[in-house]
Amino acid sequence: MARILITSAIPYINGIKHLGNLVGSQLPADLYARYCRARGHEVMFLCATDEHGTPAELAAAKAGKPVADYCAEMHEVQAELARGFRLSFDHFGRSSSPQNHRLTQYFAGRLAENGLIEEVSERQVYSNADGRFLPDRYIEGTCPNCGYEKARGDQCENCTKQLDPTDLIDPRSAISGSTDLEVRETKHLYLKQRSLRGDLEAWIDSKTDWPVLTTSIAKKWLNDGDGLQDRGITRDLSWGIPVKKGEADWPGMEGKVFYVWFDAPIEYIAASAEWAEKNGRPEADWRRWWRLDEGAEDVRYVQFMGKDNVPFHTLSFPATIMGSRDPWKLVDYIKSFNYLNYDGGQFSTSQGRGVFMDQALSILPADYWRWWLLSHAPESSDSEFTWENFQASVNKDLADVLGNFVSRVTKFCRSKFGEVVPEGGAYGDREQELNDDLYIRIRAYDAHMEAMEIRKAAAELRAIWVAGNEYLQSAAPWTVYKEDPDQAAAIIRFSLNLIRLYAVLSAPFIPDAAKAMMDAMGCEDDTWPAQMTHAMERLAPGQAFTTPEMPFRKISDEEREEWQARFAGQRG
Ligand code: 2FM
Ligand code: ZN
Repeated sequence: MARILITSAIPYINGIKHLGNLVGSQLPADLYARYCRARGHEVMFLCATDEHGTPAELAAAKAGKPVADYCAEMHEVQAELARGFRLSFDHFGRSSSPQNHRLTQYFAGRLAENGLIEEVSERQVYSNADGRFLPDRYIEGTCPNCGYEKARGDQCENCTKQLDPTDLIDPRSAISGSTDLEVRETKHLYLKQRSLRGDLEAWIDSKTDWPVLTTSIAKKWLNDGDGLQDRGITRDLSWGIPVKKGEADWPGMEGKVFYVWFDAPIEYIAASAEWAEKNGRPEADWRRWWRLDEGAEDVRYVQFMGKDNVPFHTLSFPATIMGSRDPWKLVDYIKSFNYLNYDGGQFSTSQGRGVFMDQALSILPADYWRWWLLSHAPESSDSEFTWENFQASVNKDLADVLGNFVSRVTKFCRSKFGEVVPEGGAYGDREQELNDDLYIRIRAYDAHMEAMEIRKAAAELRAIWVAGNEYLQSAAPWTVYKEDPDQAAAIIRFSLNLIRLYAVLSAPFIPDAAKAMMDAMGCEDDTWPAQMTHAMERLAPGQAFTTPEMPFRKISDEEREEWQARFAGQRG
């Protein structure tokens, strides 16, 4: 038994995530966590909402709510959707938690003690009317290059020219419209990442088993001309973690908060502290996952994220950890994903294009989405959601192959032998052959799951379902029954055992259907199959079962067309 720490990139608080976000981190992380638990490992699976930064402030302002209230509400909304998708987090935390405040301030203090923080004076635009410094993109004005009147302080979206706020003609605050702006001198903290370059490079070079997607992005950022820059870790916002050195005030940093990307990954650690507090556990119980000097030497830490998050997890966060010069655990494996596109374009949160988590659950149960998304995970390249493909996969894999197998076996049994595992007959060559085939396939499935090769694992699972169908078709108990009811009983007994086996193997992908199958078989033994003969005798003759209501139905053409039109854009 191993100890496995799993984190999913923490979703921004501002709004409900779409299926592309879901399949890029939380869902595959859940698949892996469920698999590891099923294999008997001790798992700590953590996620949280990422609650700081300008987008959170803006979304709260748009909703007309104080930002703290907005975040509390949206956290609940996201937590409920996570439950809906059966994401089995041990804890779903909040980056605004007191634990994250303390840890973030602690890390900043350690970095300062180790000479890795520089105070830099900058000239920044201050709005008298708003009573605050304005981030570049909060300043609007006329583009000096093309004359566009709504250019932003960081870039003109009309001619794409990169700008400084001071380049703008007639600048005004994007918050209030006020032109009463002035440039003031202000201090910010920079993390001297460049002095950690050697450590980071050696560490990344040692990760020879990481996916190419992960290491190629890391190396690009490390080696490109302006790759590893010292990084500003403070902002002039009122919402966030106040800048402190551990518990002490930081002179000159009054009214400033840490940059959201500084505190967000620290929330991975803080989430486990939140978990301990919630469950009345001592500090040692979370520290044993994170501190190499307090029990974490034997922990394997795996992170899941979309490719846009890779630089922050291969460079910035490791720089924070290494720079602390404390024995905190660094990540062992980073599984990253490409993007999922939507029906000939991109998912778009701003345009409401694509299917969002709440909408998905309002039309079909979680397992349908889990199966499609995981079996089409954008691993080696971007992948695309189309309604045709979704309909075809669901109808074929879930309804025709798995669902049909379960219902044919149980219904036939009920009609000929009643709802008990039938006695009589014996397993023969055909069963032996399937056992041998399944043994090899299950080992392949295990290997793919362990390697987090999700599409390959899904394909193998599908092949395992198909093998059962083919067996049933060729064993033809309905024909055999007429001549030799005992032999038909053996075929059905074997098939009922297959249903139990399928429930165990499929649970990481489709947990609700798996549970329904397991419950129907009246079996609580969900031991992972190590050895086939034993696995196929778990349901003993005479044991009662119930004919399950299979949760998979087919998607009709009318539904497909209706959904395609409904989710084309402009979410209500
Ligand atoms: O891209 C995002 O959705 C970020 N909120 C991910 C943060 S992951 C980590 F750093 F915590
Ligand atoms: Zn312009």
